[in-house]
Amino acid sequence: ETLKMELENIMKGEFEHFMKKEIHEQPESVVQTMMGRVVKDMEGAASRVFLGGMINFVSTIRRSRRIVLCGCGTSYNSAIAVRQLMEELTELPVTLELASDVLDRRCPFFRDDTCVFISQSGETADTLKAMQYAKDRGALCVGIVNTVGSAISRSTDCGVHINAGAEIGVASTKAYTCQIVAMVLLSLSLSEDSMSLHSRRKRIMSSLLELPNAIRKALLLDAQMRELAKELKDENSLLLLGRGYNYATALEGALKVKEVALLHSEGILAGEMKHGPLALVDEVLPLIIVATMDDSYKKQESAVQQLRARGGRLILIVSEEDDEIAKTAGDKATIVRVPTVEDCLQSVVNIVPLQLLSYHLTVLRGHNVDQPRNLAKSVTVE
Ligand code: G6P
Repeated sequence: ETLKMELENIMKGEFEHFMKKEIHEQPESVVQTMMGRVVKDMEGAASRVFLGGMINFVSTIRRSRRIVLCGCGTSYNSAIAVRQLMEELTELPVTLELASDVLDRRCPFFRDDTCVFISQSGETADTLKAMQYAKDRGALCVGIVNTVGSAISRSTDCGVHINAGAEIGVASTKAYTCQIVAMVLLSLSLSEDSMSLHSRRKRIMSSLLELPNAIRKALLLDAQMRELAKELKDENSLLLLGRGYNYATALEGALKVKEVALLHSEGILAGEMKHGPLALVDEVLPLIIVATMDDSYKKQESAVQQLRARGGRLILIVSEEDDEIAKTAGDKATIVRVPTVEDCLQSVVNIVPLQLLSYHLTVLRGHNVDQPRNLAKSVTVE
């Protein structure tokens, strides 16, 4: 036991907790995910994506009737984050399934479906069983897995290892961002032949190369997030609102806060605000709104207006260069500024301040960061 603790301390290095270490590793871990996969041309610009584990399957996937993305917890949230881009690039319907629900519903899966199973550990029982269920129905099974040699990575037909490195903190951080990057790469490789998508694909590929720096900048928000955590540490509840590419950010931010800080929090699709959650808005409940610049920006701005009009306590995550929305939110609002990347990658940057916030909330509330109460890193029972 002492030896184990000593070893853990060595592994943690300068960081007090694995979660903190893993949050700060993200600029490097996303590079590991892209290593050898984003191919550059003579001028050094990213020109194509090469996924060794997928080469024999790309054309089969392109011919499939739909793509199903399936996982649990954070891995499921990463699927939400890439769904829109995958639909745009593949022009196929992309549906999302929680692994346990696939089994509960006995979901109709068919031979011409491509089912993508996302898992950090590669050992989650629900995901593994859902995969076997899909395989039995003849669907092509693709793995997006971190752990090499794990049950899911061994039994899928093909896949992409995310190469995030070992993740020890129970709350998933770097695996989440690397899963998104891996599935962006997959979406790019599935759309290689499309002429009409050429310039969009180029922009995404060059933005991928800027991602490590953008994450590095977002990590500089650590001190601001510690201050924010001091303000929020005695709250009973938080609400997070996002839409489009950042619906996933709201869900994943809320999941981090509840699983490690043991503070009730809920992520909401901002478009659903008026259909219920708006009733909760008062001067007390903190509202975290993701409103970086993309197609959803105008709608988020009007949500901010409505929430301000109801006296809501606003905390906004906004694009660095945006000085409009802060005015809309008013002087009392807290503004968190993040660097801008291509819209479909913005969720990778936006989750960083929320990971930091949940980390600091946990420390300030005196809870166990790396091993939250009642949770396990990999859940191998159904
Ligand atoms: C557990 C962990 C979560 C994780 C989920 C899925 O519940 O506590 O952090 O997101 O399993 O794990 P997987 O290894 O399949 O990604």
